[in-house]
Amino acid sequence: MTSKTVAQLLSQDVTLQDVTIKGWVRTFRANRFIALNDGSTINNIQCVVDFENFDEALLKRITTGAAIHVTGELVESQGKGQSVEIVVKTLEVLGDSDPETYPIQPKKHSFEFLRENAHLRTRTNTFSAVMRLRSSLSFAVHKYFNENGFNYMHTPIITGSDAEGAGEMFKVTNLDVKNLPLNEDGSVNYKEDFFGKETNLTVSGQLEAETYAMSLGKVYTFGPTFRAENSNTSRHLAEFWMIEPEVAFMDLAGNMDLAEDFMKSVLSYVLENNKEDLEFLEKRLLDEEKTKPQAERSDMSLIEKIKFVVDNNFKRVSYTEAIDILRNSKPNKKKKFNYIIKEWGADLQSEHERFLVEKHFKCPVILFDYPANIKAFYMRLNEPDSEGRETVRAMDILFPGIGEMVGGSQREERLDVLKEKMKALDIDEEELWWYLDLRKYGTAVHSGFGLGFERLVMFATGMSNIRDVIPYPRTPQNAEF
Ligand code: 4AD
Ligand code: MG
Repeated sequence: MTSKTVAQLLSQDVTLQDVTIKGWVRTFRANRFIALNDGSTINNIQCVVDFENFDEALLKRITTGAAIHVTGELVESQGKGQSVEIVVKTLEVLGDSDPETYPIQPKKHSFEFLRENAHLRTRTNTFSAVMRLRSSLSFAVHKYFNENGFNYMHTPIITGSDAEGAGEMFKVTNLDVKNLPLNEDGSVNYKEDFFGKETNLTVSGQLEAETYAMSLGKVYTFGPTFRAENSNTSRHLAEFWMIEPEVAFMDLAGNMDLAEDFMKSVLSYVLENNKEDLEFLEKRLLDEEKTKPQAERSDMSLIEKIKFVVDNNFKRVSYTEAIDILRNSKPNKKKKFNYIIKEWGADLQSEHERFLVEKHFKCPVILFDYPANIKAFYMRLNEPDSEGRETVRAMDILFPGIGEMVGGSQREERLDVLKEKMKALDIDEEELWWYLDLRKYGTAVHSGFGLGFERLVMFATGMSNIRDVIPYPRTPQNAEF
């Protein structure tokens, strides 16, 4: 007797054979048809029970959510909707599921309800498809970097520095917060802390990745990052996973090439390997679209959108060009692009980004060369432009329906310029002595970027809330599980 997953059983040619399978009951119809799912695929396998051969008490326990063990014969299905089915020989209930209290009934549940039951929501088709895609995308990330000569580096979770200088950090301390040791001036005395200094959960592994790029050449991180930004949006999490490649001797143009190639590669991977889950999610979205007014419906399906990204070049536009486009476009209240025309120097709001990506270019856009004073201290300063304005070699990649997917830059490799920048921003040189060392010993042009993994999963699954693409979302006032 062979023990295989449902996915394996459904994908093989049927020759009559004995099989054994374990999974969770989705439905049990007419005391005869069990739809069994084991998580290996979106599809259930139909198990046909001849009720006369089984104890009534046993059949009563075949309820939605119960874990069961079935053995039987795999045969060509007589019914519609499946190619094969199992004619059940033996049936064992491994774990009962009380139908009165089991939250995941065989009907449509709202995503809000399922978030409250995040521990069980992967028993649904939508969430099992999303999480299989998430897993597949993670694998594709490692595969891409491995095949392209990158070393995987684990950067620390607990750090003593604020990589982004944005001050959105969660503090880490083992001090008794009710009875903090204080200095004479009233500030907390971190000398008594476990680490003897103030520490935080990392907001980015970039600075540490830079150190390894400057010896191993090509590295990447893929790990959790933490931001205490109090933004309760559908695109922000307090704990998210970031992919951060960092490459020595690569400039900003090379960085754009890498990011584009990388994204196309991982999306191609899921197109190829997650067809059934994508088709299911595409159909789900089409049904959802039907409830919207015609004008708001998307003109491309999920799979078409992914293919479009894979097959077309991203548009590369400088910040200055983008501002010109925005200035010369008319606000359009009806279409929700009611943006205020921007002056050079200001950061773009998400409605400006949406206008550029969804209305103007209608494709992924790489915006580069941002004003120096709205970007982080470590970005490579350009020569002033013809009007004497200062920009840095930064890039943001914007995606339709998502907004910012990637933030990256060529890094400032010149010691004097970097020191000056840090001074202007009041960043302590002593805190980052090791980072400055890189510019003292064998400095070189280098670049990298950070891609928010959940935003990529959102794009690939068509889910519209970031809380629905990570198993246990951490957001303000929410860490239930
Ligand atoms: O643009 P960010 O802040 O860039 C950095 O952290 C750089 N140090 C990366 C680097 O160059 N190595 O963040 C990078 C990406 C964003 O583009 C976005 O996709 C994602 O991380 N991101 C978030 N995703 C979910 N929730 C949040 N709160 C996020 N903040 C950023
Ligand atoms: Mg950013």
